[in-house]
Amino acid sequence: MLIRPATVADVPAIHGLIKTHAERGKMVLRPLDELYATLRSYFVCEWDGQVVGCASTHIFWSDLAELKGLAVADAYQGRGIGAALCQACYEDMQRVRVKNLFALTTAPAFFERLGYRRIAKEKLPRFIWGECVRCPSFPVCNEEAVIREVELP
Ligand SMILES: CC(C)(COP(=O)(O)OP(=O)(O)OC[C@H]1O[C@@H](n2cnc3c(N)ncnc32)[C@H](O)[C@@H]1OP(=O)(O)O)[C@@H](O)C(=O)NCCC(=O)NCCS
Repeated sequence: MLIRPATVADVPAIHGLIKTHAERGKMVLRPLDELYATLRSYFVCEWDGQVVGCASTHIFWSDLAELKGLAVADAYQGRGIGAALCQACYEDMQRVRVKNLFALTTAPAFFERLGYRRIAKEKLPRFIWGECVRCPSFPVCNEEAVIREVELP
């Protein structure tokens, strides 16, 4: 398993991974132009030369970032890839010294295993909700909020 920063060549694969899970209502679809524009925040997992997982971060403020776009191909789930991608994002937030990393997720139990705790969505600042209108579940949100404090070395 190789976790590495994404390149433009990975964008079609990232798009495919996210699209598969978005069509099942698990996450928000991300168009190609958005993926290119935010590519520097993406990590991918390569397995036997194939991109089989992705995750990214979005920094909102000095003390708050979101872990988003987390997807692992069905055939590769349960091998530690999701956890490794989250760890790469976490370390990236350590590097830029953002103190809190949250996620809005349909899989809160997965994040709890990684040290995140559930919080009431209302506790998060309103400015994070900008893209909710693009969510297939809007306005009935099926995601839960989880957050982890980032240990700053
Ligand atoms: C959620 C997802 C990213 C997990 O990826 P994965 O590579 O299968 O996860 P890992 O193998 O790294 O699992 C790490 C741990 O979490 C557990 N886990 C995995 N998915 C879980 C889930 N949905 N709920 C609870 N625990 C889960 C694993 O059993 C493992 O536990 P262990 O360390 O005790 O063995 C993957 O199932 C996925 O892509 N789902 C569809 C998209 C999605 O829901 N994205 C999240 C939206 S933010």
